[in-house]
Amino acid sequence: MMGIYRGHWRPIAISQIFALLYVTFMIFIPMQVMIIINDAQNIHAAIQNAVLIALFAVITGIFCMANTVYAVRIAEATGNFVRNGIFARIQSFSFGNLDRSATGELLTRLTSDVYQINIGVQLALRCLLMAPFAILVSLVLVGITSPELLWILIVVIILSIATFGYAMNVMQKQFRTRQEKYDLVNNDLQENMAGIRVVKAFVRQDYENKKYLAINDGFRKANVNPLHTNAITLPSALFIMGLATTLLVIFGAPLVSAGTVKIGAMLAFFQYTFIIVAQMWQLSMLMPQIVSAEASAGRLKEIWDTVPDIQDAKTARHYPPEKVEGRIVFENVNFRYDPKGDAETLKNINLTIEPGQTVAFLGANGSGKSTLVSMIPRFYDASSGRVMIDGVDVKEIPQETLRNIVSVALQKAFLFSGTIVENIRFGRPDSSYDEAKAAAQVADADGFVSAQPDRYDARVARKGQNFSGGQQQRLSMARAFTVKPKILILDDSTSAVDVETEGRILDALPKFLSGVTRLIVASRVSTALAADKIVVLDRGEIVAVGTHKELIRSSPLYQDIFDSQLGGLKKEDVS
Ligand SMILES: Nc1ncnc2c1ncn2[C@@H]1O[C@H](COP(=O)(O)OP(=O)(O)OP(=O)(O)O)[C@@H](O)[C@H]1O
Ligand SMILES: [Mg+2]
Repeated sequence: MMGIYRGHWRPIAISQIFALLYVTFMIFIPMQVMIIINDAQNIHAAIQNAVLIALFAVITGIFCMANTVYAVRIAEATGNFVRNGIFARIQSFSFGNLDRSATGELLTRLTSDVYQINIGVQLALRCLLMAPFAILVSLVLVGITSPELLWILIVVIILSIATFGYAMNVMQKQFRTRQEKYDLVNNDLQENMAGIRVVKAFVRQDYENKKYLAINDGFRKANVNPLHTNAITLPSALFIMGLATTLLVIFGAPLVSAGTVKIGAMLAFFQYTFIIVAQMWQLSMLMPQIVSAEASAGRLKEIWDTVPDIQDAKTARHYPPEKVEGRIVFENVNFRYDPKGDAETLKNINLTIEPGQTVAFLGANGSGKSTLVSMIPRFYDASSGRVMIDGVDVKEIPQETLRNIVSVALQKAFLFSGTIVENIRFGRPDSSYDEAKAAAQVADADGFVSAQPDRYDARVARKGQNFSGGQQQRLSMARAFTVKPKILILDDSTSAVDVETEGRILDALPKFLSGVTRLIVASRVSTALAADKIVVLDRGEIVAVGTHKELIRSSPLYQDIFDSQLGGLKKEDVS
């Protein structure tokens, strides 16, 4: 929090000055009462003092209000700042970071945890400095007016600290658990919402209901625990107050009889004891909230402090994308998703792709095709070995430049809510309407887009739900084309596109993106046939590289794939 407020101390200081003024005026009221009672014969002075008390009360109210207004504003500003900051941090996450964080969890942190901080800051600004100050000044005043009884207040304070401190300690752990359980609730909700159609298709509503019920119940219990702990604080405060009164009567009354302590001082003492216990209790009421905010701050700090796996190297320098030729070299690349595990997803990859070549990647599901191509735009970094573009290690190219050089249509097409043209221009917002249209024509999307009443301004629903799977893929390819990259990667992005349309797209591509190196991950052999080079992958290793003609003779795995898909064709038909 200190880091957040650096350079913004003024409003905080002002809020605290108001708080201290508020307490100061509040605390002098019992002193006035004491003066009136000790000097009861002097009616004139008594009236003067009574007016003063009323005035103090009004001033107290005004300062209290000013403090609250400031506290609320600072708390809202803090919440806002933290939310923006966390959002920006999440945007900087690399694919690896995202793999490791659940969406629901990030959601809880952005909403509930930020809210906890908001409330915590507000209450802290209202009480954290004020309560101890009130207690301290009360102690000093009692020390001056009736030093013989001071020890009773010290007993009260020690007891309060012990009780409330213990409760706070327990609650801190309980609040952390509560937020963790809340994560589980949100994660489940998020996943269920994403997969609700699958749930319906398999009639698994009951199962999902039961699962959610159990998770939600865990949350309920975790929510109750800190409240239970908090429930001991009020009775404790009352008990301490009662104890103080008892001690005061036993030890104070003889002193009053003996005339050592005046009756007015005794009354003031009562009021100060009340102020101290009330402040202690208030602190204990606020502490759960502050402690909860602290637990939330810890969770947010985890995101705040997360270092993106992929960062620009210090030595990275800008390469003008227009000067890039697009030669790609994989040199002894090995990769594992889990750096601590020993499962290698890519093993000893050596591959050279010349500028302007079209290279297809074939292989069974899970053979590592997507992983391999994702090393080029640095979605993931090789565990060992190097990936180079025009002889420069991709780590030496700033990510921003790299993503202008390499454009990807991801395996899972995703459209944002908005308009079609906004989606197509997503990678190059400065591109023109006509450029977007030209890209859509190549992706064979112009036909169905033009059939929409609003054409390129037609609305895209959330997650592109109002378009078919194949249409979504075509729009997502148009988005990749619009970037006008030097290297284009299509990761199985025609899997839902019918073969005829796919043929048209692949035919139109070379003209639209001439000289661009094209990497096409394919699950259909037909997609790969026209490539200059076909790379066959098996369990993370390259097992064959060559043209169709070469592979059909030399690679048994390629023959298998070919026969299983196009076995009915005569070999000479293929050309
Ligand atoms: N984000 C990830 N975290 C951990 N493991 C992953 C991740 N993505 C993929 N894998 C694993 O890496 C292996 C290769 O996956 P990859 O997605 O590269 O396969 P693929 O050849 O593209 O398959 P498909 O044809 O199904 O698209 C798989 O065994 C998979 O389990
Ligand atoms: Mg894949």
